[in-house]
Amino acid sequence: MPRLSKIDVVSIEDLATAEIERIFTLADEYAAALEAGKPPAVASGLVMATLFYEPSTRTRLSFESAMHRLGGAVISSADMNASSAAKGESLADTARIVSGYADLIVLRHPHDGAARVAAEYASCPVLNAGDGSREHPTQTLCDLFTLRRKKGRLKGLTVALCGDLKFGRTVHSLIYALARFGANIVAVPTAGMDVPDYVLERLAAERNYNFSTVTMDELKSLAGGLDALYLTPSAPHQMALFTGDAPLEKIPTAEPPPALDAFYVTRLQKERLQSKDAPTSEYVRFDAHALKGHRVQEAVVMHPLPRTTELAYELDSDPRAVYFEQAAAGVPVRMALIAWIIERSGEPRSRTNAQNAAIVFKSAAPPRCASPNCVTRFEAGYLRPRFRLAPGVDRNLLALRCDYCDREMRIEFVGHASRRRYYRYDETLHGYVRQWIEEGTLAVFDSVKQAEEEGYEPYRRGPQREVMDAPAIARALDSMAEQVIADLPDLTGVSIVGVVSRGAILASRICDLIQQKAGVRPPSAAIDVYNPAETVMRLDSAESFVAEDRTIVIVDDVINSGWTVQRAMTALWQRGRPAAVKLAVLIDRGHRAVPIRPNYVGKNIPTARAERVQVRLAPPQGVAPGRARTQDCVVIYSMVESLKEGEDAG
Ligand code: NCD
Repeated sequence: MPRLSKIDVVSIEDLATAEIERIFTLADEYAAALEAGKPPAVASGLVMATLFYEPSTRTRLSFESAMHRLGGAVISSADMNASSAAKGESLADTARIVSGYADLIVLRHPHDGAARVAAEYASCPVLNAGDGSREHPTQTLCDLFTLRRKKGRLKGLTVALCGDLKFGRTVHSLIYALARFGANIVAVPTAGMDVPDYVLERLAAERNYNFSTVTMDELKSLAGGLDALYLTPSAPHQMALFTGDAPLEKIPTAEPPPALDAFYVTRLQKERLQSKDAPTSEYVRFDAHALKGHRVQEAVVMHPLPRTTELAYELDSDPRAVYFEQAAAGVPVRMALIAWIIERSGEPRSRTNAQNAAIVFKSAAPPRCASPNCVTRFEAGYLRPRFRLAPGVDRNLLALRCDYCDREMRIEFVGHASRRRYYRYDETLHGYVRQWIEEGTLAVFDSVKQAEEEGYEPYRRGPQREVMDAPAIARALDSMAEQVIADLPDLTGVSIVGVVSRGAILASRICDLIQQKAGVRPPSAAIDVYNPAETVMRLDSAESFVAEDRTIVIVDDVINSGWTVQRAMTALWQRGRPAAVKLAVLIDRGHRAVPIRPNYVGKNIPTARAERVQVRLAPPQGVAPGRARTQDCVVIYSMVESLKEGEDAG
């Protein structure tokens, strides 16, 4: 049999939705074939290696059973402490060596991001069987498969996640997947064991998804019939687009869900606790009583197992307790995963997990991942920390995401490696930082002290001058709305798309003006060109955005190089073929690197290259002002001080 294609499953996000669906179809077939006693030997001639650096019963044995049932062979070092790891062999070397002996590696490891490292060094596929507290994607396949079998669907289900949501890796993978399949999540953490911020931020930025967190007491009321519980809808909600200040949880919706469909209970991950993490309240305990409320009559109880004290044995005889079925699903689901990799081998596979490019740091000391359990801290001899820009909606914040453990780090000071200047990050640097990443000149620092120790000098802004105040901006927007109405008489075919974040705020305002003047309100949407998935979200309704055959007006605040607009256009074209695309900008500076000309301009402000134009806008209605300004204005910063003759600002 030829070598398998290099299909690694490190995160549940490595599998496209259609791929998960295919795995489930195969799992149904394998479950039936196991029942009938004759599964096909599709893995005959293949060898799977199971490398477990942590204890396991279900995951390792069901993987091994799955491989045997498919006619394949298994080599195992069940206790890696009995392997060369005990002599200090690196994970990279182990992965490289074992991929010479096996066609597939299944790895469990205590460090966050370990599976990513193994996948990079092994020449065969690596399947993550749990890496630290990060993810456990194949458990999620078993969880979703069981849930779907029990409920007939995933979309629209409401799942309560209970217990240790901080270190529970099964929960993290499950959250990403439930969000993707359109289920509602209610988090019920034991106090102090909340879903980590990096998981929430990733969900908000990449899926525009968030959920409520409730206490155990609130959950009890919910089970019994409380009417005023806060829940977020699974559909994207628009506020998250505009600002980091928008409440990311506890957005009230009119109705609580009619019922809970599942409880997903987890044990306290004692082995990952440091004393400061110890839960501050009693741990959740589920018994027959928990299933008595009228809203939970149909709810199933799930658990990745092993259980400790959180699930009473009396529940086992209740038909709603499905955790043993969930564990049993391990064999057909893992057979399906292996068979799917075999099926896909040789076929081209498009990358499912689109990401920003990894950042190459020129500074002497590249940043270190802030997570104490990140694999980069333990395999430092050969592994350089690696980061990508975390896609976020707030341009005031710069966050880097560790490529191995996913942890996000806020960056306060950035520098330009060849100019040796450092800056405190703010939104005026948004575009420049991206350019510096592309050039490979970005440096980041924890503090001014670090920057200065590395020989960087401070960059000081020259004088700032206000070139437009709020009434001037209002007049410019009014004029833009008039220009659109005059140019596009059939407004029913027009959609307005703002570039996140200020372009989206302006797009909403232009829609208001068009409605006032012409009595028609074009559908409006926001596009986030810095999000790798380039999400387009409707601002005015929950319906999905349609580009096909529409005249699209793209709105942005300032046209600098034209690069952002070009990206927005490409992203729109991927969603359908618009009848026409027009461009509206509040300010045209007159410098463009690409041949794009705005159709509607609020104001022309010719500026020198070494100046920055910043549009500041009051936040949209309903959004807490926070750090955002309450008065609209446009200011120009002079950059003369830091630049030598002929140097570009960026
Ligand atoms: C889980 C794990 O290892 O993360 N077990 C499993 O694989 N079913 C859950 C746990 O250990 O609590």
